[in-house]
Amino acid sequence: MAASAMSKLLVSDIASAVDHVPSNYIRPISDRPNLSEVESSGDSIPLIDLQDLHGPNRADIIHQFSHACSSYGFFQIKNHGVPTKTIERMITIAREFFHQPESERVKHYSADTKKTTRLSTSFNVGTEKVSNWRDYLRLHCYPIEDFINEWPSSPITFKETTAEYATSVRALVLTLLEAISESLGLAKDRVSNTLGKHGQHMALNYYPPCPQPELTYGLPGHKDGNLITVLLQDEVSGLQVFKDGKWIAVHPVPNTFIVNIGDQMQVISNDKYKSVLHRAIVNSDKERISIPTFYCPSEDAVIGPAQELINEEEDCPALYRSFTYAEYYEKFWDRGLATESCLDSFKASTT
Ligand code: OGA
Ligand code: NI
Repeated sequence: MAASAMSKLLVSDIASAVDHVPSNYIRPISDRPNLSEVESSGDSIPLIDLQDLHGPNRADIIHQFSHACSSYGFFQIKNHGVPTKTIERMITIAREFFHQPESERVKHYSADTKKTTRLSTSFNVGTEKVSNWRDYLRLHCYPIEDFINEWPSSPITFKETTAEYATSVRALVLTLLEAISESLGLAKDRVSNTLGKHGQHMALNYYPPCPQPELTYGLPGHKDGNLITVLLQDEVSGLQVFKDGKWIAVHPVPNTFIVNIGDQMQVISNDKYKSVLHRAIVNSDKERISIPTFYCPSEDAVIGPAQELINEEEDCPALYRSFTYAEYYEKFWDRGLATESCLDSFKASTT
């Protein structure tokens, strides 16, 4: 391999120069994607139609939420209210961002996980041993006026397009939070009220084509640390979810989002709803873009199991201690992606 490829910051710029995966991306044999054992999702992933959420069938839809959140922890939604144009523009601008010359992209590069706007690669290059075949632009996007000045100004419509998308997805998330709250038997503003001033982050994930996809990951198995994630993906498959001991490929369906439960919802629901293990694999001939919105508490919010769901006498004790989201968030990044839950150190003491 050309020595110059190794000195590149971003995997996009390495991918275009190699015909083998460089050694620092190669997983140990015990930790490879085993692509031949992956199942195809077929119809097994719940699809919730939000059309009727505000009509006479609300109770039925809420029931679908409780089923999807408790038995799967992830599901698809349609008729979600985010305009098709807004979605198309967002995917296009993300693609244009990553197709810019290296010199333009690296202006935003930082390995500092505390920075609120940054382009990086893999997950946390400061702590991990094996790298992942992914570059990502991470943005904070609520309140939008606090962050929009930091966002890239190239491509020229980046800020406007991304702001429109983030605002529209936030409105959707607030609707989802009410439905999820009700599905737990809680008041509909209960989950929202535990999040302090609320937070919203986005990642623009770019997975370049990979010469040997069986040796590496776009993202290895992990659980999202935030409250819920709303994932937009382009038309290229790559997402896989772990269910009943198997990895299942979740193929993109036009005009739907994937929603998954994250660690904070697991805590608030006191394990009624669990954060789900998922990963992204890469492929040899197509680049892939995915855009997760990570909805989260604000850093000062105190997170713990909802009191209404706890009953010490009836064998329903609080399973987690209370903590600030800032405390959790720091641990999440420091530890690196791992299949073990980051929540282990936030469990209530049993003595
Ligand atoms: C993530 C993630 C999945 C994907 O960014 O946390 O799980 O399909 N992404 O890119
Ligand atoms: Ni994830």
